[in-house]
Amino acid sequence: MNQQEAKQRMEELTKQLNHYNYRYYVDHFSEVSDQEFDTMMRELQELERQYPEMVADDSPTKRVGSDLQQEFKHVKHQVPMLSLANAYSVDELLQWYEGVKAVNGEDVAIAYEPKYDGLSISLIYKYGRLTQAVTRGDGVQGDDVTENVKMIERVPLVINEPNIKACPIFEIRGEVLMPFKSFAKLNAQREANGEEPFANPRNAAAGTLKSTRSSVVRERCLDVYLYEVTSTYRIPKNPAMVKDDHEFWENDQCDLMNYLFGKGVPTAQSFHVGYCAKDGNGNRTIDTDCFDRERLEYVINDFVLRRPLMDYPIDGIVFKVAARHQRSLCGSTSKAPKWAIAYKFNAERMITTVRDVTFQVGRTGQVTPVVHFDPIPLAGTLVRKATGNNADFLHDMHIAIGGQIEVEKGGEIIPKIVVGVDPCATKDFKEVAYPKYCPECGAPLVKDGSNHYCIGESCPAQLQARLEHFVSRDAMNIQGVGPRMIEEWIGDGIVKDVADIYESEKLETFFSTRIILSRTESKSVPAHRVLFALGIRYVGASTAKLLLKHYGSINTLVAIATACPEQLMQIDGVGENTATSLSQWFSDKENLELLSRLQAIGLQMEEKIAHPSGTTQKPLAGLTIVISGVFEQHSRDEYRAMIEQYGGKNGSSVSKNTNYILAGDNMGPAKREKAEQLGIEIINEEQFLKMIGQ
Ligand code: IVH
Repeated sequence: MNQQEAKQRMEELTKQLNHYNYRYYVDHFSEVSDQEFDTMMRELQELERQYPEMVADDSPTKRVGSDLQQEFKHVKHQVPMLSLANAYSVDELLQWYEGVKAVNGEDVAIAYEPKYDGLSISLIYKYGRLTQAVTRGDGVQGDDVTENVKMIERVPLVINEPNIKACPIFEIRGEVLMPFKSFAKLNAQREANGEEPFANPRNAAAGTLKSTRSSVVRERCLDVYLYEVTSTYRIPKNPAMVKDDHEFWENDQCDLMNYLFGKGVPTAQSFHVGYCAKDGNGNRTIDTDCFDRERLEYVINDFVLRRPLMDYPIDGIVFKVAARHQRSLCGSTSKAPKWAIAYKFNAERMITTVRDVTFQVGRTGQVTPVVHFDPIPLAGTLVRKATGNNADFLHDMHIAIGGQIEVEKGGEIIPKIVVGVDPCATKDFKEVAYPKYCPECGAPLVKDGSNHYCIGESCPAQLQARLEHFVSRDAMNIQGVGPRMIEEWIGDGIVKDVADIYESEKLETFFSTRIILSRTESKSVPAHRVLFALGIRYVGASTAKLLLKHYGSINTLVAIATACPEQLMQIDGVGENTATSLSQWFSDKENLELLSRLQAIGLQMEEKIAHPSGTTQKPLAGLTIVISGVFEQHSRDEYRAMIEQYGGKNGSSVSKNTNYILAGDNMGPAKREKAEQLGIEIINEEQFLKMIGQ
C-alpha cells in the first residue's frame, strides 16, 4: 500500500468508525459486532503507526465515543471517564500481563469481574449523600441524569460508612443495566401496546436512563453494578480499623468491592485470578504466577458456562491490576487505562432449521424477507426469526426451507448458513421463491441494487409501515398508537397519509386523552426527528440529524436537495444514494404538499440550537439578509442555514425589505449598485459571524 492508498484507507476507516460510534452511543444500536469494530480500529491504529504524520487530531483511535444529548445538562468529570482496551484471545491477555509486570518490575495481582453490558455512570456522594449521577458522555463531560438514577432501587441515596460520610466528595463508577427479567416484561408490554420493542437490554437501559421522565425509570426496573472508586478521592484511613484490614481494603480491588458491598453498595463481583492463601505470618498472599493460559482458559470457560444463567447482560470479563499503587505505574492512553483490559466474548451462535420465509413491505416500499426458524436461546432471549435482507443474501447464504442456518446474536441478529453442518439434514429443503408482485397490494416489484421495491402507489402495507414509523418513539413519539389501531384507520379509509393523524376529525373516536396529549407534544419534537419521521429512503435517524445540523431547517434542505443534490454529498456521511433519494422525495409534488400541511399543523421545521443557558437565541429575528459572492470560512449554503437557524430570513434578491447584504469576494455589481441606491448595509463574513455570536 503506498502513501496515497494508506491515506485513503485511513479516511475511509475513520469515517466508518465515527459512524458506528455515533450509532452505538447516540442511537444505542450496534451495526457491526464488537469484533468487526475492533478489527477496523486496529487496522487504523496500525496505519497510524506506519504513517504518524497523517494521524488526524480527532482520530477515533484517540477518543472515546460520545453519548451526550442536548436534553440534559452537561457536567465535566473530575477525572476523565475512559474506555477499555479489548482482547479476543488468551494470547492477548498474556501479552497485556507481561507488559503490566514489566512496568511494575514486580509481581502483579490481577482481579477479574464481569463486564456488565450497560451504560457507564459516575455517582458523586458528598459526605455520604448522593448528589449527582452523570453518564460517560464523551469521556470529558457527561449528561446529568441524577433524578433518573435516584429511581434505581439499588442505588444507595446515602452510604452509611464512616469514612465515606467524612469525605467531601466520594466518586464511585459503574454500569447501569437492565436485567433480562425487566427487559422481557418491558418488551411484552410494548408489544401488547403496539409499540416497537427494544432491540436488546443495553438499548432499553440507554433509552430508559435518558428518558426525560423519571417515573419511566422507576417502572422499568433498572439495576446497577459499581466497580471503580476514582483514585483521586481516596477514602481516608480509619484509625479505628484493624491495621491489616484497612490496608487491604483501601488498596485491593476485590477487598474494596467486598467491603463496600457489606456497606450496602451494589458493587461488582470481583475475584483474584490467583488463589488466595495465608503465608507463614498469617498475611494473605495471592498466587500471581498462575496468570497463565490454563487458569485463564478456566476463568473464561467458567464465565461462558455461567453466562446463560445470569439474570443480567454481560459481554465479557474485565481483568484489572488489583492494587491501586501499581495501577498508577501502568499509566493510560487518551482512550483507556493500561491497568485494565476487557476480554470480549464472541457473539453467541447456534444452528437451527429454517421453517418459513415471509416477505414484509417496509415504509419505503422495500420488500424484505423474514426468515423464521426453530426457536434458539441466544444472549438471554429466545430468537425465532431474523431478517433475510434481500434476494441476493438469501441466494448467497443458500437459505432454504428445511435447510439449516447458523444464527448469531451480537447487537443485531444475522442469520448465516453453515455450509456442511449436516448435509443429510438439508436434503429435503425447499427453495425460497422470491415474489414478483407485492404480497400486500399485488403491484409489481422492481429491483434496485440488491433490493426489491413495491411500486404500488396505494399499497396499504407501505402506508401502515409509514404511519407506524411516523408515530414511533425515535420519530414523533405519539404514544398509545399501535399497529392494530393504524390497521383499522387504513381499513376504514380515514387516514391516507401522516398529516391525517393531526387533521382527520374522524380519528377523534380512536383517541384517548393520552394520545391527544402525546400528539400535541409531538409538535415540539425537534426538526431532525420530523425529517426522520417522513421515512425517506436512506434517511435514518443519524443522517437526519446530520442533515439538519448542517442546514438548520427542512425548508433549506428541500431547496438544496431539489436545486443541487450534489451539494448534499459534501457532508461527511451523506452518500450518493441518500442525496438522490432526498432529491427524488422532495421533487414529488404530493410530498411537498404533505410537508406544507405538516408545517401548517405546527410541526418543527427548523432545528433549534441549544445554548448552554438552555435558551434558544434568535439574534437575527426579523432581519432579511441577502447573500452574495464567494466566502472563505463557510459555504453559501452554510450561511443560508445559519441565517435561518438564528431566526433571520434569507432573501434571494435585494429590495427595500433587505436589512443586510452578506458579501464575500466578487459580489455581483448589480447587487452592489442596488444596495447603494437603497442604502442597505453590506457586511462581511467576520461581521456576520459576530452578529450570531460565533
Ligand atoms: S473498569 C477506565 N469494570 O466497559 C475504565 N468497566 O468497554 C475502567 N464496564 O467504559 C472501567 N463492566 O463502562 C470496568 N467490571 C467493569 C466493567 C466495566 C463494564 C464498561 C465500562 C467501560 C466499558 C469499556
